[in-house]
Amino acid sequence: MRQYDSDGNGIGDLNGVGRQLDYLAELGIDAILLSPFYPSPLADEGYDVSDYKAVAPELGDIISFDRLLSEVHHRGMRLILDFVANHTSDQHPWFEESRQSRSSPKRDWYIWRDEPNDWQAALSAGSAWQWDAASGQYYLHFFFPSQPDLNWRNSDVVAAMHDVMRFWLDRGIDGFRVDAAHCLAKDVEFRDRPELQGVPIAAVNDQEYTHYVLRGMRDVVSGYGSDRLLLGEVFFNRAEDVASYYGQQGEELHLAFNFSLLRAEWAPTRFASAITEIDLAFSARGLWPTWVLSNHDRPRTRSRYDGSLQRARSAAVVMLALRGTPFIYQGEELGLEDAVVPQALRVDPHGRDGQRSPVPWTREYPHGWRGKRHCIPFPPDSELLSVEKESMSPGSTLGLYRRILALRRSLDVLRQGHLQAVRSMQGVLLFERLLEGKLLAVVANFNNLECHTPYSEGWRVVIASDGVGEGAPFPGRIRGEAAVILEHES
Ligand code: GLC
Repeated sequence: MRQYDSDGNGIGDLNGVGRQLDYLAELGIDAILLSPFYPSPLADEGYDVSDYKAVAPELGDIISFDRLLSEVHHRGMRLILDFVANHTSDQHPWFEESRQSRSSPKRDWYIWRDEPNDWQAALSAGSAWQWDAASGQYYLHFFFPSQPDLNWRNSDVVAAMHDVMRFWLDRGIDGFRVDAAHCLAKDVEFRDRPELQGVPIAAVNDQEYTHYVLRGMRDVVSGYGSDRLLLGEVFFNRAEDVASYYGQQGEELHLAFNFSLLRAEWAPTRFASAITEIDLAFSARGLWPTWVLSNHDRPRTRSRYDGSLQRARSAAVVMLALRGTPFIYQGEELGLEDAVVPQALRVDPHGRDGQRSPVPWTREYPHGWRGKRHCIPFPPDSELLSVEKESMSPGSTLGLYRRILALRRSLDVLRQGHLQAVRSMQGVLLFERLLEGKLLAVVANFNNLECHTPYSEGWRVVIASDGVGEGAPFPGRIRGEAAVILEHES
């Protein structure tokens, strides 16, 4: 969100996003997921909200929001907002009122205790409990101490947060990404978890009551028709744990992020097991999975693969050929690496600035950013990897993303086809997609050297990660670190 600047102050804003809508539509995406743009002291890049029903003044106002929404819709895309439901900023008026005294009417809107238990926070080292000297109790924060957790067992909190959802749904937005969705309800008995040995409680918190809270949110969203989305961030490791947040009859989240590829190292066995596990936990139970290679919390794909652009491009071919909804993090489509951020310019105490570097729009420095101030430096090779440069070259990473996304639109088998024959053999990942007799094969070679594949006679290359041979018969061999989508000619 803060990647798109319109007023030249070096900070991205809503009007800046509006200026790039043609670029995003041409990329071929269906929806834009905006990170938080609400008023915030920015202790956690806007994930510390101090007013849920407004736009941060440095990013625009409600008029610029409404304009952006209508322009997104005008281009046939959807707009999804980030709903930071687990916690507010400690500067939110609700928390300021809550911490006034033990008898504050909003005391129970947050989680206060006389004694801390052994839960550890995420993002910041140490206890998930912060001592508040003025009111003489500890409050709970799953993340930074400046992000006190809301008490979703309090019906006034539920009503207030549903009201926030309705505020944006009434304006016409297409859905929400519920931040840290599995964290919402806490163990009522606040039992110690010594077995976690320092693992943050946010990584394992899994309470039945959260499902009830999500059903409530789903009802709010469904009240606006069947085409509004409730997506959630559930960052568990096990696929079936993530799938449980869709509800027993699909009455909770419509979709949850699946971070298995984001966490997988560059190894065909890891990719194959991640894909199989998701297929079993989701598709086999009639659920629709998602796929993610990068986001604002993790090093960019290419940086995770030792800077290899070839590997990042092959991983993109794999992800975009899988069954499910893929999410692309801004700049992933350009093959960007993380920026190297000197200590003096770091903003995020958790070290996530490198992946949040600005998108280079134009070739020449400052790459379309007119402002004097860039919070974070540009990624390496910004001239070569700029939108301007890549737009002119069909062989670019941007060209590759555009071709695959266009193919997903035109080929039903790529969107809806059954996933089958997932396996890895001698450093090569293979899988197939099948719909009504139409068969595709996807082959990704994780070795440095060329390899033979089981596919040869009768197969044609539709997409190649390096662009070579597209449209031609497949020779049966695949170049080192390349990936292809093949179509059976019958
Ligand atoms: C989510 C966000 C992350 C944020 C955290 C706390 O995991 O993706 O950026 O720091 O929630 O709000």
